[in-house]
Amino acid sequence: MLNFINRKALPFPVLYGLKAVNRTMRAAFTIASNRTHSGSAYLHSRVDEAIARTEEIYAHLAQVHPERRFSGRVAEIGPGDSIALGLELLANGCEQVDLADRFYSSREDALQVAINKAMIEKHPQLRARLTDDTYTEDSFVGLTRYYGKSASSEFFFDSHRGYDTILSNAVLEHVHDVARSLRGMAMALHTGGYLIHQVDLRDHEMFTGSGRHPLSFLTLSDPMYGPFRWGGGPNRVPLSEYRRTLDELGMYYEIFPTILVGNDEIYPSGTRFHDIPADKRSAAAKCVREALPKLRPRFKQDFDDLCVSSFTFVARK
Ligand SMILES: C[S@@+](CC[C@H](N)C(=O)[O-])C[C@H]1O[C@@H](n2cnc3c(N)ncnc32)[C@H](O)[C@@H]1O
Repeated sequence: MLNFINRKALPFPVLYGLKAVNRTMRAAFTIASNRTHSGSAYLHSRVDEAIARTEEIYAHLAQVHPERRFSGRVAEIGPGDSIALGLELLANGCEQVDLADRFYSSREDALQVAINKAMIEKHPQLRARLTDDTYTEDSFVGLTRYYGKSASSEFFFDSHRGYDTILSNAVLEHVHDVARSLRGMAMALHTGGYLIHQVDLRDHEMFTGSGRHPLSFLTLSDPMYGPFRWGGGPNRVPLSEYRRTLDELGMYYEIFPTILVGNDEIYPSGTRFHDIPADKRSAAAKCVREALPKLRPRFKQDFDDLCVSSFTFVARK
């Protein structure tokens, strides 16, 4: 329905009302069916695009690991429709990869099989892990998929422990309870193990898609924002809350911004805030200042953190 309306011309309260109804229906479907499109990254892609994206995500996350690679037992949370990143981890020397997802992301089964076959062509050593000739997500020794509430980041680590690394891409901004998830993950790591997560704090086009300010979703009260976070929608947990929880956990960590507010330029993995050119930081600060008076108090805690709209962090236990 929203596609037939000039959304840029709508007053914000009207746009909010239309979006809230739409989001409520989507969330109700996700919760009732346990299915989502949120993790369907490869629904309309080609095999070569899926492989290239997997390589990019692997390289991005590995770049901030002190050894530039992963080993031992790894858990990926929220893998979405594909096991390709899990296969990349196994091919690069990990011994076991557990993939834990709260929801089942819709997918094209034939495409997933083709991606898995392409991963084997790229890494022939994976062939030794094949248990059958169906090439599905159940076909690989050392790779296990888990779905549902007990596989959510909040609960999975109550009963799965002993990891060298727990990682994710574009997931923590969707989980229901970030602090509980981080505490569970920290408990589940070996001493010396790492959390490595890429987190996208943008509004996922909820309001920017209709030409609004990138921080306009942070002007809504928690009850009004409710429908937008139900069923795995963006949770609006700011960077300052990640810092607080990691501090409470006593972990050594570093934050690497990948995108600043108001400009979708992506900075290379491992870039520190002060490595970003001053003019780009000033532009982000200007964008934050425009929104600041109307932001809810809990989002006003750290000005530099508010300038960051996407980041990767590495935390060591
Ligand atoms: C935007 S998708 C990212 C998928 C994939 N990591 C990628 O980069 O394409 C978010 C994923 O997080 C999952 N998710 C949402 N809430 C979760 C939770 N509490 N615990 C684990 N996974 C969750 C969704 O089911 C979905 O697969």
